[in-house]
Amino acid sequence: MPDALPATLAHRYSREVALRHELLYGRGYQGPAEPEVFDALAARAGLRAGAEVLDVGSGLGGDAFRLATRFGVRVVGLDASSDMTDLARERREVDAPGADVELVCGNVLTSDVVRPGAFDVVWTRDAGAFLTHEEKPVAWRRLHDALRPGGTVLVTDYCLGTSAASAEFGQRMLAWGQHMLTLDAYADLLTSCGFTDVVTEDRTADLVASQEHGLRVLEERGDDVRALLSPEEHADLTQRWRTKLTHSTSGELVWMVLTARR
Ligand SMILES: C[S@@+](CC[C@H](N)C(=O)[O-])C[C@H]1O[C@@H](n2cnc3c(N)ncnc32)[C@H](O)[C@@H]1O
Repeated sequence: MPDALPATLAHRYSREVALRHELLYGRGYQGPAEPEVFDALAARAGLRAGAEVLDVGSGLGGDAFRLATRFGVRVVGLDASSDMTDLARERREVDAPGADVELVCGNVLTSDVVRPGAFDVVWTRDAGAFLTHEEKPVAWRRLHDALRPGGTVLVTDYCLGTSAASAEFGQRMLAWGQHMLTLDAYADLLTSCGFTDVVTEDRTADLVASQEHGLRVLEERGDDVRALLSPEEHADLTQRWRTKLTHSTSGELVWMVLTARR
């Protein structure tokens, strides 16, 4: 992948589309945003004040801001979409005043920000599935090396379930630019890139709760929804959320949490 995102992802993570999806997830997010989800993840990451955290695929900055504000850590948020990075930068002083957050536009495969031994924690939410199968080992070796010895990685990602994926599901995921692994294959990938103590957990219930919340936002059609969505966009998003919910409840799509150490 070149430094910039491929066209599908550049569109998906454009300002316009990201703001629409954010309506359904929650401010600062393009994925499950509930405080209890964040708390459960943060509890696993071994955060201590002053630690240096790299947030890969930091998006609109929701986690970077929460991490820095709640835990007193220094966060470098890296995202390959300039629109996402710009939006997060515009909000930094409002959403996380005084917090130690640097937002960088760059690709995890090539960015100089991913320096050997520079971070105590690598945090990455729902970005890894966008790497192709050839890119994944390159990215994960870089992220392994970017951690200090004993450092922790915390990952959430979309994964393949154990039930056979339908052709429709496979095609849709490729159309959405996602290249998924099973939980076991994800753990093997990180082990082969040098990580130890790799633990995965199926947290699809959190994804389902977030998707159901998104559908309620669409059904209730509050002022934000009316202001930001045309009737066609409303219909498109409703269809997309229903489809995701179908895949998440059929066992084809799993939302995983993974932790590991260098
Ligand atoms: C599903 S969004 C998640 C954003 C954020 N972590 C959240 O939970 O709200 C995935 C993000 O990963 C970014 N991304 C995808 N591939 C990337 C890459 N190779 N390097 C850096 N960022 C990438 C996208 O631009 C997008 O902002």
